[in-house]
Amino acid sequence: ASSHRQMEEVPLLMGSNCRAKGAAPGFKVAILGAAGGIGQPLALLMKMNPLVSVLHLYDVVNTPGVTADISHMNTGAVVRGFLGQPQLENALTGMDLVIIPAGVPRKPGMTRDDLFNINAGIVRTLCEGIAKCCPKAIVNVISNPVNSTVPIAAEVFKKAGTYDPKRLLGVTTLDVVRANTFVGEVLGLDPREVNVPVIGGHAGVTILPLLSQVNPACSFTSEEVNHLTSRIQNGGTEVVEAKAGAGSATLSMAYAAAKFADACLRGLRGDAGIVECSYVASQVTELPFFASKVRLGRSGVEEILPLGLLNEFERAGLENAKKELAQSIQKGVSFINK
Ligand code: NAD
Ligand code: LMR
Repeated sequence: ASSHRQMEEVPLLMGSNCRAKGAAPGFKVAILGAAGGIGQPLALLMKMNPLVSVLHLYDVVNTPGVTADISHMNTGAVVRGFLGQPQLENALTGMDLVIIPAGVPRKPGMTRDDLFNINAGIVRTLCEGIAKCCPKAIVNVISNPVNSTVPIAAEVFKKAGTYDPKRLLGVTTLDVVRANTFVGEVLGLDPREVNVPVIGGHAGVTILPLLSQVNPACSFTSEEVNHLTSRIQNGGTEVVEAKAGAGSATLSMAYAAAKFADACLRGLRGDAGIVECSYVASQVTELPFFASKVRLGRSGVEEILPLGLLNEFERAGLENAKKELAQSIQKGVSFINK
């Protein structure tokens, strides 16, 4: 509410039209975990997005300061802060898109699955709030392990009777962002011109870049394929080790999350041809969840695109990925149904 008050306090300079109140047309977006390493730069980027009219920042700590700071940016979105569980429902009511980067990050030596015990409960609580207060919102799950937290969210929504698989999306955009950057480096291309599909999931061998399907069309030596696949699969660990105990990727992740959220909002607006990779409920393999290219629209995931032709290396990678994914999915489902 502080930014409303701020607008009302603006002195009358040019007649009553200057005192326009309320938000410009656009979408209402909530970030849960908004005071964290990802949450803060993501809040900044969403405040800059012209499709956002209202931005709700929720966390269990520090949201007043982050909200006051971000709310001074002279962009369109009205910013409101919410602190602690008693304010979760107000943070969520009326939202079109909810982005969840809440939870603990890795330290060196940990896998994403090592975060399960803490983050599973956080995601469950937040999704119970979503089911109650904004059951039609599109939900972007960032909290790790994504391979399990998305199935957890699905089970919470099923229990509440609000599950719509088209509206629940695990954010794997950072894998694509990294793949585009690393492939651009190897090919000597501007990374903005490169598009690498990355399928499977978001952990270790479940991250499967399809280097045979890079756009623009190109070819790699087998050394390049091995180097690129390994670097893309271990991109998160590269950052965790470089940060040496101070957390995992936050800035590149905020960039990736903002890019993905913008694609979801453009889909909601009705733009045509919005295609992103995302970890969603899927029938593209025998697994109930899988990351692949999806077409986004007014109802969320409107189409899951086929995987296309995979070469022998990628087919072997797919089999490995599916084994680990099956276990991570089951772990998430059992957490809610135990
Ligand atoms: P962080 O510790 O800096 O921030 C997390 C924030 O979540 C904190 O501000 C904390 O107060 C908040 N939080 C904790 N419990 C909460 C609750 N119950 N409700 C609301 N907020 C709560 O961590 P970070 O670096 O921002 O990472 C957050 C998560 O994102 C981690 O799980 C990390 O592994 C994951 N991550 C995912 C990707 C991806 O590609 N999907 C990339 C990077 C990080
Ligand atoms: C990443 O890919 O950077 C995130 O999943 C964070 C991590 O733990 O690696």
